[in-house]
Amino acid sequence: MREAPIGVFDSGVGGLSVLAEIHRLLPNESLLYVADCGNIPYGEKSPAFIRQRCAVMADFLQAQGAKAMVVACNTATVAGVADLRRDYPSWPIVGMEPAVKPAAAATRSGVVGVLATTGTLQSAKFAALLDRFATDVRVVTQPCPGLVELIEAGDLQSPTLRQLLGSYLQPLLDAGCDTIILGCTHYPFLKPILAQMLPADISLIDTGAAVARQTQRLLAERQLLADGPARPAQFWTSASPEHLRNILPLLWHNGGVVQSFNQ
Ligand code: DGL
Repeated sequence: MREAPIGVFDSGVGGLSVLAEIHRLLPNESLLYVADCGNIPYGEKSPAFIRQRCAVMADFLQAQGAKAMVVACNTATVAGVADLRRDYPSWPIVGMEPAVKPAAAATRSGVVGVLATTGTLQSAKFAALLDRFATDVRVVTQPCPGLVELIEAGDLQSPTLRQLLGSYLQPLLDAGCDTIILGCTHYPFLKPILAQMLPADISLIDTGAAVARQTQRLLAERQLLADGPARPAQFWTSASPEHLRNILPLLWHNGGVVQSFNQ
């Protein structure tokens, strides 16, 4: 069981930013990754639809023998992680959520920005996060429709992307944010262009590394950490495997096999 893989899923390629953190921290672990690219973007879908997709992903990753599952998607976590934990009570499941707590601790201006999907920002789970950790700071939220689709196409820097991103950053800058939460797993891939577009004193916070540490903790508690060596990563996509094969090297530098996922 220790050498069994960790299963990771996202609506698309965004969760690869989390997969990279898991691989960095836990290089002995074999990794499975499902990208539900055929249903992108989750951010504009109903919570009921997303919950249904979470169940499909969980069943698939269980069938593949995953010893733990990481929901590498903020939108899927707010919609579906509670049901997943109820339905798979003995399976270690790690979810993600926007880094409100560390951002509230880090801000000097007292104004924190959140870039995330519409679904995440509208969720009760996000509202609860703000109630719990953001009582002493002002939080400016910005949904970013369209951004995920560009990243899915492998666009991390075109003039179109720059313009759209600029329109989402401006309200945060106008409000005086000095700390910006990347509340969607696709957005860490924009860090290079964000570094060009934002003043140098603005900090960006995402939760990929924290999720990797939480995965490590849960596995260690259950004596499930692998000794290695890891097997090559396996990828599935519910859209075109050829497209994923083409853009994978841009977003993940450790190789692996891409297959089709038809569920
Ligand atoms: N990567 C996902 C997240 O972290 C959502 C992208 C989408 O809208 O599908 O929220």
